[in-house]
Amino acid sequence: MTVFGIIKTLYLTQILIILSVAFVLYLQPYMISQTTINNVFETARLEEVIGDFVQLKKAGSNFKGLSPFTDERSPSFMVSPVKQIWKDFSSGKGGNVVAFVMEHEHFTYPEAIRYLAKRYNIEIEETEQTNEQKDVASARESMYLVSEYAQKYFADILLNDELGKAIGLSYFKERGFTNETIEKFKLGYSLDQWEAFTKAALKSGYQLEFLEKTGLTIVKENKQFDRFKGRVLFPIHSMSGRVLGFGGRILTNNKKAAKYLNSPESEIYYKSKVLYGIYQAKQAIAKEDNCYLVEGYTDVIQFHQTGIHNVVASSGTALTSDQIRLVNRLTKNITILFDGDAAGMRASLRGVDLILEQGMNVRICTFPEGEDPDSFAKKTPYDELVLYLEENSKDFIAFKAGVLSEEAQNDPVKKAETIRDIITSISKIPDTIKRELYIKECARIMDISEQVLFSTLAQLTNTAAIASKKKEQQGEKAFNVVHKADQPVQKVDQQYELERKIIQMLLLYATIETEFEEYYLKENDKGELELDMEVETNSVHQKIFLSLQEDEVEFANELFKQLYYAIIEKLQKDNKLQIDTFINVLDPVLATEITSILMDEERYSLDDWERQNIFPIKKEALVGRFVTENILCLRRFLVTKKIDELKNTVSIDVTNAEVIQDVMDYMVLKKVLSEKLNRVL
Ligand code: CTP
Ligand code: MN
Repeated sequence: MTVFGIIKTLYLTQILIILSVAFVLYLQPYMISQTTINNVFETARLEEVIGDFVQLKKAGSNFKGLSPFTDERSPSFMVSPVKQIWKDFSSGKGGNVVAFVMEHEHFTYPEAIRYLAKRYNIEIEETEQTNEQKDVASARESMYLVSEYAQKYFADILLNDELGKAIGLSYFKERGFTNETIEKFKLGYSLDQWEAFTKAALKSGYQLEFLEKTGLTIVKENKQFDRFKGRVLFPIHSMSGRVLGFGGRILTNNKKAAKYLNSPESEIYYKSKVLYGIYQAKQAIAKEDNCYLVEGYTDVIQFHQTGIHNVVASSGTALTSDQIRLVNRLTKNITILFDGDAAGMRASLRGVDLILEQGMNVRICTFPEGEDPDSFAKKTPYDELVLYLEENSKDFIAFKAGVLSEEAQNDPVKKAETIRDIITSISKIPDTIKRELYIKECARIMDISEQVLFSTLAQLTNTAAIASKKKEQQGEKAFNVVHKADQPVQKVDQQYELERKIIQMLLLYATIETEFEEYYLKENDKGELELDMEVETNSVHQKIFLSLQEDEVEFANELFKQLYYAIIEKLQKDNKLQIDTFINVLDPVLATEITSILMDEERYSLDDWERQNIFPIKKEALVGRFVTENILCLRRFLVTKKIDELKNTVSIDVTNAEVIQDVMDYMVLKKVLSEKLNRVL
């Protein structure tokens, strides 16, 4: 296999892993019926769905726009409304409508289907659940619904109620939050009354059971109280934007009451699996390929308002592996931002090892004494803040070493402790090469021999290796989504290109009936072989099928081979190939490949059309010649390859007359094929 082929296969394997993870998730608790899925595919219009996120302009029969996955100035993102597929040429991503939503919103497969169903008011039919599963699912659903209602209610109070405006809104304004920010984070206010919210919710038909289960209402001896009475509220969203719970900040200086009060854990809100701000940050995190991690709600919001959007908070809890995994789906890089105070810092440093353990890179940035990210961002303009973050972010070794140097430069015991601490962190890194590089770095910074460090590391990794293997077996790796599509190193593999071209012709022109020049060998008067030509009419797919069958040509590329048979089978059954419906029933890997083959073609015509300001020459007119040419090229290529193979055999055993005869025969065939090709061209 060529380098190109290997890279391609790796890339596709990754897609396969991602899609199969999505599929497993889809199979497990959620059971969306096939009817619903079909309904979604039939109803959703790709250009409309994408149009919600990307400004699309008509370009010929397609739409084009700026890639939502990279920062680019000239549009290379294309959408085909006819084929219902899209392709982003700057990142290499592409696919159908569900693939777009999964990619753009970082949804799983069922999340994407649900999103589209909601977008088009399609009722979701759930199937094959036991009654117990149904109860759990509908209880959870009811909790989601009541949380969504609460979020809207509290936002409404904040923005429209007289007391809400006077107390809640004016507090946020005082903090410097703009209307846009308040809307973006769906901030709210709960009136300072015992049961204003609970009454409103009950009146709107929500059941007390779910108000209590979500913690919005506290029920005590037949009395009900609003949990968040008199607090401004920060809704906590899931990755896909559902409201899971709230954080509520008190507005009075009551020393006895907690400054922040959060929703209790519930069936929809697991603190350890949620990051505040992930919904609002996910696109920026993927785009910037980095995630800032802060402590609280106000830090996240202030950063957004200053213009930095790739930021999340673990809000209140120590960072967990599940939270890191959420970020790991979006980027491999985390930068932890610490307040100036040292106590909080030490506690949060434990998070560093958890991040390293997931094969991610971690940097640490501190703020000046007395500042937290919120206060610092508030008084620092965007450019300065960006610069500050760039200049003050250190990798974990430099950071840990730095903490030491301040404390006890000349205390050997403390120094040894720090070194052990750093090596412990290094031992968490799964990648051995990276580990080695960090050891060298540590040796340099701490001024100690690499050898000692390596042997310390060896002791630590022996135990760590066993643990990490276990984790791997549990399938943690499956979530390592690759973001920057690996652009394969362009090395021309002729066979790959020719096979791909044939698939492309099948996809584009399969049912076109056209004239083909058929060349065949004829013996002339002198007994020599000569080329003769006849014109025959056939459909493109029949022609391709018959020619390849005649020569017993098999595709070398496994993916193309599968595609070829899938397409031929479909055509022979229905005598037509409607791309959009065909793609949706295919294996996702094959579907992705089709998308990329087709969109390459689209780009070609678009570029031409734009450059020359003319319509591209209709390829249909030349289809017959193209097909013949390609088949001949592929055959000649295969014959040449065969000859080379045989020649290699000959060099081992020169006396083998049979092989020599074979080579001669193939040489003749090659000559004939070359001649045929000359006639076609
Ligand atoms: N925080 C929390 N629970 C607390 C205190 C703080 O969850 N009891 C989190 C909040 O998410 C908050 C962040 O830590 O956004 C920063 O804390 P702090 O500065 O005390 O909160 P502020 O609301 O900014 O209060 P102040 O106006 O006094 O700075
Ligand atoms: Mn603060």
